[in-house]
Amino acid sequence: MKIIKSWWWSVKITVSVLKSNLDKRETIELVEKTDAEYIHVDVMDGQFVPHFSLSEFEVNNLFKGCKKPLDIHLMVEDIKKYIDAFKDLNVHSFIFHVETGQNIIKLIEYVKSLNIKVGLALNPETMTDSVLPYLNMVDTILIMGVVPGLGGQKLIPETVDKGYVLKQLKKKFNYRYDIGIDGGVNLETRPLLNDFDYLISGSYICMSNNYQDKIDSLR
Ligand code: DX5
Ligand code: ZN
Repeated sequence: MKIIKSWWWSVKITVSVLKSNLDKRETIELVEKTDAEYIHVDVMDGQFVPHFSLSEFEVNNLFKGCKKPLDIHLMVEDIKKYIDAFKDLNVHSFIFHVETGQNIIKLIEYVKSLNIKVGLALNPETMTDSVLPYLNMVDTILIMGVVPGLGGQKLIPETVDKGYVLKQLKKKFNYRYDIGIDGGVNLETRPLLNDFDYLISGSYICMSNNYQDKIDSLR
């Protein structure tokens, strides 16, 4: 039965707890009870995006002890500072933005030296060309389906094509990254998302009263 399940539901689900109708702690507890593979933690510094999310202290406090591995999405300018602040949590990957103008290669190597997976995120207007130099180094590429900053936005349909482009490049050059999409993932947009290895979904799951049902509907 297990084998059939993992074959059939091959897409991985990551739950963003940014927007929920419960408080964060309750939301995290409910996500922990589901079969989602990862928890997605959105971190915003008010600089890279005009919004703030949780402080470093709050992130550490809320996610300390989480059983599910965390994908930490850094929508920040000073990437290294936040990697250092969160590296002792149960981190599966650190994902930061290629648009930041930081030394991307140095940061990729730094995360790898911590034995943590590393990924690059692309804003909706950023073309796939911008990540070409790093594709052989990263574990994951995250396509933003919405402008970063807020949960509950509508998917920008044009962003989805980048999943197809990256999938072709992966095949052609034998790269090993996973391709994910973040923002606007719900039952309505799901049929557009078959090129992705994992889906990040926030409000569709966390604004509902049955997280597992929503996850099942996406698989
Ligand atoms: C947007 C965040 C997303 C967001 C996804 O800046 O990076 O992770 O929380 O939320 P939904 O699924 O509601 O679009
Ligand atoms: Zn995110």
